[in-house]
Amino acid sequence: MKIDQERARVTDSEVTATGMDEIRVLGGYRLQGKVAAGGSKNATLPLLAATLLAPGTYRFTNVPELKDVSTMLEMLSRFGIKSHRTGTHDLTVDSTGSHNAEAPYELVKTMRASIYVLGPLLARYGEARVSLPGGCAWGPRPVDLHIRSMEQLGAEVDIDHGYIVARAPNGLRGGNISFDVSSVGATGNLLMAAATAAGRTTVENAACEPEIQALCEFLVSMGARITGICRPQLVIEGVPELHPADAPMIPDRIEVGTLLVAAAITGGDVEVTGVDPTHLGATLSKLEAAGSSIEVAPDSVRIRAPERPEPISVTTRPFPGFPTDMQAQFMALLSVGNGASTIVDTIYHDRFTHVAELMRLGADIRLEGNTAHVRGLPALSGAPVMATDLRASAALILAGLVAGGETRVSRVYHLDRGYERLEQKLQALGASIRRVKA
Ligand code: UD1
Repeated sequence: MKIDQERARVTDSEVTATGMDEIRVLGGYRLQGKVAAGGSKNATLPLLAATLLAPGTYRFTNVPELKDVSTMLEMLSRFGIKSHRTGTHDLTVDSTGSHNAEAPYELVKTMRASIYVLGPLLARYGEARVSLPGGCAWGPRPVDLHIRSMEQLGAEVDIDHGYIVARAPNGLRGGNISFDVSSVGATGNLLMAAATAAGRTTVENAACEPEIQALCEFLVSMGARITGICRPQLVIEGVPELHPADAPMIPDRIEVGTLLVAAAITGGDVEVTGVDPTHLGATLSKLEAAGSSIEVAPDSVRIRAPERPEPISVTTRPFPGFPTDMQAQFMALLSVGNGASTIVDTIYHDRFTHVAELMRLGADIRLEGNTAHVRGLPALSGAPVMATDLRASAALILAGLVAGGETRVSRVYHLDRGYERLEQKLQALGASIRRVKA
């Protein structure tokens, strides 16, 4: 108890000193009702980067209002690309006057997905200078596959003072790429670079995530020739040039999953709308295995959860497997499960910074390599905790929904990178939650 009070004082002073908001949750309210999910962050970022590929005007709808989206727009502004929102979720991007420039460390270090400009810059200008992102909260997260695939398309790549410097003065040419590891980002970069490369590019072990499918479809609407969409073997026939296009952003399957877990952890009854259930297979089947009843409609999912979830085993895998981006939220859920669960992260072996914070709420979790053994408890107890990354911050809020008393989650700037007004959505479902502005 003494430790909690001390931590609370530290958190308060941090909030005031560094201008960081805090989320306060009073646990114990069962969630009920209907809530709409927004557009996908991870689909929006590569589609915005793709506007570098062809000058002109693009209109996007269902674009989430998130820090990561504004970081990408700021990055694009460095290349002369203008953008403005015409409604809350409608965005016009004008790349008519775009030019080549450096993707600076100050932006790339705040958002790794900035590396999505590498392929388009190289394809359009024959040269790209993009900062290396560096590590992240849960491990090294290399970009070797991005670099190697640019080399396979004929680029010369050097690392210069922390920057990737890629050159293809005579243009890129098609190549045969086989990824050792399925990578969303490297597949996206390769697709954008290969779309206008001379000749055919074949890709083995391409990522099949819905966000990559959305990028493929967008590139096709810009004039690209891609076959094998949704499959690990892709073929791209290079075209001389692309043209601008418009697109709606696909629903955010991770936001949907997070809202469903919010319902599940409180024993609630919630319908999430604005959903593509075909993107949610693994998440829904794990929620069912944990005892929830799931009702799927063409663009919504309703969950009715038991008082306590049943214990389950979860292993993260590339799509259509269980997403690593839902691992932390399920850890929160299983912390109050009716028995012992295991969670294995095969994508990011160190993505467990949320464990220590969940344990501050009383969770019983033992880490063994990339496996978390979670012994479910009937109750958690509210405490000040610190968000360490985007999905970890969501997990702490979810745990706060069932922890006795108040949970104060600091450093919620992580949350704002990828969740649009999560606290308001949860509040509308009956949670006692508020944001305390610094
Ligand atoms: C994307 C998502 C992120 C999600 C991750 C895995 C975006 C903006 N982010 O990240 O939310 O958690 O997919 O689903 O869409 N790897 C390498 N070398 C590389 C690139 C990746 O070894 O050059 C490894 C990674 O360390 C990891 C695996 O490949 O083990 C998958 O990572 P990847 O799919 O590339 O993740 P991101 O695209 O960065």
